[in-house]
Amino acid sequence: MTSLAHRLAAARGDEAAVAAPASALVQAPASAPPGPAPASPADGEHHPSLAERTHAPSAPSPDADGLQRVKARTADALFARIGTRLNDPSLTEAQLHALVREELGTVVEAEPTPLTADERQRLMAEVRDDVLGLGPLQRLLDDDTVSEIMVNGPDMVYVEQHGRLTLSGVRFTSEDQLRRVIERIVTRVGRRIDESSPMVDARLEDGSRVNAVIPPLAFSGSTLTIRKFSRDPLVVDDLLRFGTLTPQMAELLRACVEARLNIIVSGGTGTGKTTLLNVLSSCIPDDERIITIEDAVELQLQQDHVVRLESRPANVEGKGEVTIRDLVRNSLRMRPDRIVVGEVRGETLDMLQAMNTGHDGSLSTVHSNSPRDAVARLETLVLMAGMDLPLRAIREQIASAVDVIVQLSRLRDGTRRITAVTEVQGMEGELVTMQDVFVFDFSAGVDAQGRFLGTPIATGVRPRFAERFEDHGIAVPPGTFDPPVRAARGAW
Ligand SMILES: Nc1ncnc2c1ncn2[C@@H]1O[C@H](COP(=O)(O)OP(=O)(O)O)[C@@H](O)[C@H]1O
Ligand SMILES: [Mg+2]
Repeated sequence: MTSLAHRLAAARGDEAAVAAPASALVQAPASAPPGPAPASPADGEHHPSLAERTHAPSAPSPDADGLQRVKARTADALFARIGTRLNDPSLTEAQLHALVREELGTVVEAEPTPLTADERQRLMAEVRDDVLGLGPLQRLLDDDTVSEIMVNGPDMVYVEQHGRLTLSGVRFTSEDQLRRVIERIVTRVGRRIDESSPMVDARLEDGSRVNAVIPPLAFSGSTLTIRKFSRDPLVVDDLLRFGTLTPQMAELLRACVEARLNIIVSGGTGTGKTTLLNVLSSCIPDDERIITIEDAVELQLQQDHVVRLESRPANVEGKGEVTIRDLVRNSLRMRPDRIVVGEVRGETLDMLQAMNTGHDGSLSTVHSNSPRDAVARLETLVLMAGMDLPLRAIREQIASAVDVIVQLSRLRDGTRRITAVTEVQGMEGELVTMQDVFVFDFSAGVDAQGRFLGTPIATGVRPRFAERFEDHGIAVPPGTFDPPVRAARGAW
């Protein structure tokens, strides 16, 4: 969206204002081509063409700065009238739009500055976008090449595009405008952000995840981080292309899912756990009933028979919280064939019990840096939930519930790879016993660009779950578990 003042300046051929959009409203990216902005499709209103605008009578109209003042005044007047109702969750989006349209009409009527019909219309459209939409962020949200948006204060908005971070030209007019956008995002999902709760997680309607932190915690102005919901999730072919796994590994993981092994994907933040969970879930046969449970819906399963559940934080009065744990428990009464939990946290014990009581073939992720660490993390999570169980009993639950841990790591070259596939075998004394079936081959070294040449390779251990494949009549290519032979080469 280009600013009103900028558009008007362009319409009048006002070179100075066009060349220096910063003097007008600051939302226009510095690189925006001069000329009319494309009409925002949401407006549903007539936007005059450049020719029409150029011929619009301009004599009585205020200059660009004047228009900016008119816009700011109009927005303030509107807020004074209906500010408190803007974030009223009992209003539907349609009611809210009607309310804003009506009140905005009244405010603009009362505006003493003479405006042409066009100017008035555009003024109303821009104020409405700011009030109802996400202001300057909307343009970035609509841009499919932007995968992440990071607002570090009103005039510093970074974006990630194709994996690269750059400072965008987008700015908010003020800290106040930024705060209004944040408030609008969080109150729409029934949450609140203020001095007493200055950090909030929320989600946009399109599924994008939002985290907001406001002063005094955020020192240099309100901070907003948006991980955009990707319309096209990565699929197994993408992961093969990125070198995250090999075709043999993909076959093996498919067999693990089909054989109903309980699988935990382990990895640090942003290592691709959710993405791999989505890929694994895509291997679940079509005739099974799948229940997914997440904090914020991210999984995008292609199967038809899927029930998606999402937890809910407490509302403003501190009531109505529904945790992942509640959902896991409830899902057991929903006749699931498979339970897929986005990430195990406080609900660990319920999840383990579900895995142990016939709901095998469950999939989940845990935040940890190695398979051994994953087991320790599960242990800690059960203990933290206040379960009064002896450690040994907890470990027994883990050992009998989890069949396989798939470890993801982000390597020094920036790639995300499967660095281990580890079988959880049982207990020996007080300890959970585990065996690596595949590990990443770091000894293969790096290429000229510093990219790791290795792949996950078999250790030579034949996992016990291979018998499960046979029981289910699932074939894996012969030699899957054989280590590569290459030591011999040097000897010849
Ligand atoms: N194997 C992969 N290779 C490259 N990029 C990936 C891979 N897996 C995920 N990504 C990208 O990394 C980001 C984080 O992925 P996500 O699955 O949400 O990670 P996590 O759940 O571990 O935090 C996303 O933008 C996603 O598109
Ligand atoms: Mg995740």
